Amino acid sequence: MISIKDLVVSFDTFRGKLQAVRGVSLHINKGEIVCLVGESGSGKSVTAQSMLRLINDRSIQSGSIEIDGFNILKSDKKSLARFRGKHCGMIFQEPGRSFDPLYTIGKTFHETIKAHNKTISDKAIFEKSLSLLKEVGIYNAEERLGNYPHQLSGGQLQRVMIALSIASDPDYLIADEPTTALDVTIQRKIVELIKRLSFERGLTVVFITHDLSLVKDFADKVIVMYSGIILEQGKVDDIFNHPKHPYTRALIKSIPKAGANYKNEKLISIEGVVPDPVYPPPGCPFASRCLYTQSICTVQIPHSIQTDAYSQYRCILTPEELKTRGDVC
Ligand SMILES: Nc1ncnc2c1ncn2[C@@H]1O[C@H](COP(=O)(O)OP(=O)(O)OP(=O)(O)O)[C@@H](O)[C@H]1O
Ligand SMILES: [Mg+2]
Repeated sequence: MISIKDLVVSFDTFRGKLQAVRGVSLHINKGEIVCLVGESGSGKSVTAQSMLRLINDRSIQSGSIEIDGFNILKSDKKSLARFRGKHCGMIFQEPGRSFDPLYTIGKTFHETIKAHNKTISDKAIFEKSLSLLKEVGIYNAEERLGNYPHQLSGGQLQRVMIALSIASDPDYLIADEPTTALDVTIQRKIVELIKRLSFERGLTVVFITHDLSLVKDFADKVIVMYSGIILEQGKVDDIFNHPKHPYTRALIKSIPKAGANYKNEKLISIEGVVPDPVYPPPGCPFASRCLYTQSICTVQIPHSIQTDAYSQYRCILTPEELKTRGDVC
């Protein structure tokens, strides 16, 4: 289980303190696929990187992060490196930039597998590399091990990256926008691959995306972030069918509809811009873009209201009140 309590992360910039994450708390149960969604700059990557303490220690101001009872923020560097290597895999947005262009795919596998298991033989590494490549749907695996990264397409490289991230049989996989650099048909295939691996290996997945349309058939749980704060979280069906925060509702409304004729129909977007992270407003960060803003909304951030074991939202409107209002955008 991943448990984060009151995480605050800020960066010193020449303009002042940039408040990237402002008190995030969340629980992710074993085997769940949890999607972190929100507009650019909402603090998704910083939250995910904090889970593995990939953020500069100085920037993590307060809070606690535990994975299976292991205290990520308080552990010494050596135990942390051992824990990360054994239990957690990470996939990044642009696979092309994550590979050394001078290493063949086989050499990258060799280094990665050897780093996790010093006594493993070269033959066993070769066999494990082949089996991992096959597991992620690379069929001419033997030939691919001799290739350099530039000889593979973006989709193939992302599959290789996923294979590398599961090489140490981790329990957790953190995927930060792994499909953004890929075209739409490949995006779906990568999402299906991660879903299959999660099912077959019992992997717990934290999947970051700003594309809500990818999430629907994939996630168990959705966490909606905005301006460094979680505005809503809940089970995927609840989020899509009964969003409790105006921001979640606006995000869902702005998903382009398949088959819609946008010559006659307006593509919906959320008016306004996200707040400046150096000077975030004292109240609800969505207040300046929300149609239902009342004076109290600009004064303080609403408390998080828990409606069941999975669902929480931060809004002064009750879900019933929100339902009876018109569209937010
Ligand atoms: N190392 C850093 N130094 C300074 N500011 C940073 C650093 N990393 C992130 N930020 C800032 O923190 C805020 C949150 O960034 P983060 O990368 O978490 O956003 P995000 O939700 O992942 O956005 P995107 O969808 O664009 O990837 C942004 O304003 C970003 O510019
Ligand atoms: Mg990001």
